[in-house]
Amino acid sequence: MTRKLYIETVGCQMNMLDSELVVADLRRRGYELVDEPGPADLVLFNTCSVRAHAEEKIYSALGRLKNAKQRNPDKIIGVIGCMAQNHQKNVFTRAPYVDLVVGPGQLHQIPNLVDEIAAGGGQKLEVSLDRTGGAKRDVAESFESYDPLRDEAMRPSRYQAFVRIMIGCDKFCTYCIVPKVRGPEQSRPPEQIVAEARKLADEGCREVTLLGQTVNSYKYENGERTTRLSDLLHQLSEIEGLTRLKFVTSFPNDMTQDLLEAVRDVKKCSHYLHVPCQSGSNEVLKRMKRNYTVEQYREMHDRIRATIPGAAVTSDFIVGFCGETEEDFQKTVALVEEMRFKNSFIFKYSPREGTKADDLYPDDIPDDVKKRRNNELLAVQNRISYEDNQPFIGRTVEILVEGPSERARRHEEHAHGDDQPEAGAEHAHGDVHGPIQLVGRTNCDRIVVFDGNPRQIGQMLPVTIYDANSFTLFGEVVTQHVGPQLVTISI
Ligand code: SAH
Ligand code: SF4
Ligand code: F3S
Repeated sequence: MTRKLYIETVGCQMNMLDSELVVADLRRRGYELVDEPGPADLVLFNTCSVRAHAEEKIYSALGRLKNAKQRNPDKIIGVIGCMAQNHQKNVFTRAPYVDLVVGPGQLHQIPNLVDEIAAGGGQKLEVSLDRTGGAKRDVAESFESYDPLRDEAMRPSRYQAFVRIMIGCDKFCTYCIVPKVRGPEQSRPPEQIVAEARKLADEGCREVTLLGQTVNSYKYENGERTTRLSDLLHQLSEIEGLTRLKFVTSFPNDMTQDLLEAVRDVKKCSHYLHVPCQSGSNEVLKRMKRNYTVEQYREMHDRIRATIPGAAVTSDFIVGFCGETEEDFQKTVALVEEMRFKNSFIFKYSPREGTKADDLYPDDIPDDVKKRRNNELLAVQNRISYEDNQPFIGRTVEILVEGPSERARRHEEHAHGDDQPEAGAEHAHGDVHGPIQLVGRTNCDRIVVFDGNPRQIGQMLPVTIYDANSFTLFGEVVTQHVGPQLVTISI
């Protein structure tokens, strides 16, 4: 009998990729994916610990399953990923009806652990060694990598996939839990990465996004040979079938010139760089231990602009970090005005137990001040995004078509009922549905919505932009008239 699996994923792209791998593994063992926890035999939450809110959401979701578990004790509930590593057995204390707690380094053990639980083996906990729990090598080895299994249905679309090039983080920004829950930084051998990307391309994938917490610190040494991210981009661009390469997230200090030149010169590389700045105040950056000053960030930003004109640069900011004065905050506003990021993700500081900031500095900015600063910065960023999208009106851009737009997806689900597979590429072949609203991205990562035909999904298309807001460009496909005089026949 097939068993039913429900999985809910929060957090960053690393978690989206991990969920894809876990689902691939479980499907191979006969599980079927369902989109509600109710009928599922196995319910997994792939969790994030980066802010308190992300953790609280999971405990609330677990709370809602308490009765279902009482009614059906055979239902297996698992907490996996970063919060599993962070809270370990405390998850069982807060939610005693949870059966399984598995950290991000042990995800490959899930199928066997579930079988043991189903056979009456009781609660199971598998996590990596804490960073202080052994020699660096032992800790690193306890975060096992887990990449070859893929599952198309869990990807943003069948034409797009994530490929991990490194795991962990060694930067230890004082506010951040990631080095604790994801362990030491380790780069994957380039041969493995290229082989995985090639396999994805053979399966029809067009766009690969390389993942790492500080992806541009990627470095793999093999005897005499050192492979950097720039080398990897050159190698990956050789893969036939792939049309676009991206990478996230970059660390400002590691934005080397060879990398910027690779982004400029490698044809398939998207001119998009996510390089979080976090604050516009040197005092705050110092307390965050980001290891750069505003002046150094500016120098890096100038180099991007000089090397890759028109590149989209995006950032993250934390507002209301310990001791952030109004003056500090206004420096961040000024920096956003100056840098004109394509967009910024803005977060209110959330103290995390086990981080340096939580030990050293009081969380002294009241929540209403954090909220106000968040809204103020967001308004500035949105205005800039709006202004910088306007010059696209009237221009023709080339986009990679990703799939139906949100609106088209909702419409499809409504039309077909809930038992349909995800409205996406799979049932979007042929033109039985006629024109639908599609979404794609430009080379500089701007989202373009247009009316098109499902057959265009996965293609590169010229689109003329007729309108734009802060987040989206609206376009029309350029119709290509190919007269007979232009057709050359080669025998
Ligand atoms: N590795 C990436 C980001 C990882 S976390 C980098 O270094 O840029 C994603 C974002 O969450 C961070 O850039 C930061 O802006 C935010 N973040 C991390 N810890 C946080 C905390 N304790 N409170 C609020 N935001 C936080
Ligand atoms: Fe966290 Fe800093 Fe590492 Fe990014 S670089 S994951 S913010 S410690
Ligand atoms: Fe969250 Fe873990 Fe990513 S803490 S941001 S899911 S690495």
